[in-house]
Amino acid sequence: MENLKNTLNSNLLKSEVLGKILFPSSAINDKVSELGNRITEDYSGRDLLLVSVLRGGVIFLTDLARKIDIDLTIDFISISAYHGMHQNSTGIVKITKDLEDSIEGKDLIIVEDIIDTGLTISYLLRNLKSRNPGSIEICTLLDRNVRRIANIKIKYIGFSVGEEYLVGYGLDYKQKYRNLDSIYELKLDTVKKDIENIQNEPMET
Ligand code: PRP
Repeated sequence: MENLKNTLNSNLLKSEVLGKILFPSSAINDKVSELGNRITEDYSGRDLLLVSVLRGGVIFLTDLARKIDIDLTIDFISISAYHGMHQNSTGIVKITKDLEDSIEGKDLIIVEDIIDTGLTISYLLRNLKSRNPGSIEICTLLDRNVRRIANIKIKYIGFSVGEEYLVGYGLDYKQKYRNLDSIYELKLDTVKKDIENIQNEPMET
């Protein structure tokens, strides 16, 4: 999960973390099929490469790829964002694992679980465009455009969401719950208590 990731370390029960289901697995499956059909039509006869942004985008990509009925290749990229006071409107990120293969001339779709401020994808677009691909489009399962900072055009969108924190289907809370097949709201009271518990722990000397 974006800003709280890696800052907390207590263990919580699943029932303490998961709130109501926002998108059940059936709705996600239907949406993934719909997006797969659109991409199949749009990319027929082209050299399609799906690029997944680790880690959250992987679950969506593996399902989406199986709903696309044309030949395609997949590749993975991992980036780390600098949050907090060092983050600015240009999105300062670095690549921690690059793509394996050249993308020159290929028709790319970057596959994301969620686009929030858009800073991550904006950085990626700038970086990948400099490698001379044939074309680049974006496919995101969730679009949280209420927090958008970067000016980006998203061709394929699954669902639009608000500011609520979400987990499941690739989205994590402290790196867990990515494997849930539905998307849940996170119980904010639990998260707040979790933060308080950490803050009240005695400092190691
Ligand atoms: C999430 C998501 C995007 C990014 C979007 O990744 O998968 O890559 O945040 O946020 P932005 O639009 O504000 O840049 P996260 O940093 O949580 O890492 P993860 O994929 O490993 O969960």
